[in-house]
Amino acid sequence: MARQQPTRTSNVAIDDIISEAVEVASYSIRSSDIGLSVHLEPGLPPIWADPDQLGQVLINLLVNAEQALHGWEGRRTITVSTRLHPATGNIVVSVADTGPGIPKEIRPRIFEPFFTTKEIGAGTGIGLSFCHRIVQSHGGTIEVESPEGGGSTFILSLPASDRLDEGTETAEDELPNSTGIACLVVDDEEEVGELVAEVLRRDGFNVTIAKSGEEALLHLKNRTFAVILSDLK
Ligand SMILES: Nc1ncnc2c1ncn2[C@@H]1O[C@H](COP(=O)(O)OP(=O)(O)OP(=O)(O)O)[C@@H](O)[C@H]1O
Ligand SMILES: [Mg+2]
Repeated sequence: MARQQPTRTSNVAIDDIISEAVEVASYSIRSSDIGLSVHLEPGLPPIWADPDQLGQVLINLLVNAEQALHGWEGRRTITVSTRLHPATGNIVVSVADTGPGIPKEIRPRIFEPFFTTKEIGAGTGIGLSFCHRIVQSHGGTIEVESPEGGGSTFILSLPASDRLDEGTETAEDELPNSTGIACLVVDDEEEVGELVAEVLRRDGFNVTIAKSGEEALLHLKNRTFAVILSDLK
């Protein structure tokens, strides 16, 4: 999962972002006996983007694709491709897998924070909501196609850069309204608790983590929280 850094935007080549993300994800993909192919349209214009953030988006999509193909008996291929949208001039990046696809009933929910169909510990449901946010902050869109016959294709559409300067701009992310709101995260799985806390901190929450009900009660004795998120049964 990506850490929220101040955004660092510059004119970047989508090819470079894809190559780096593929490099990160490919070892695990190939050792799971999954085919991976990349088709980059030559001569695409640069995009005005934070390459680290967009790289994280692609890694999230590649990991999801790989996980969808675990134990899948049919064809096992992931394809990443780029093209220029002829009408809008946007750069379109798609990440397609030949896995089981996404049932129609859950498709509207997959971009929601914490929506997951994976087992506890395997997924927290943060990946796609993170992707959605980052793509939106780049002025783009993310959609999914998952036809009846199976397979899922995530399609990013990003505007081509209209800036000539090559410099890098650093900006603190605008702080959302949740700034400073006290939130207590209770989760007996340390990694999950940390992940949840991280997402909330990105949104400006002031987060305290407790690993057990007892620990949570101790915190509650000393102070109040506006929000309590608990995963304890
Ligand atoms: N390529 C895919 N094929 C099939 N289902 C998918 C695919 N990508 C996402 N999904 C579905 O969307 C859900 C949400 O995905 P998301 O990446 O947000 O969370 P996650 O992968 O479950 O957990 P995390 O990304 O936090 O590890 C998944 O649990 C899965 O049901
Ligand atoms: Mg995921």
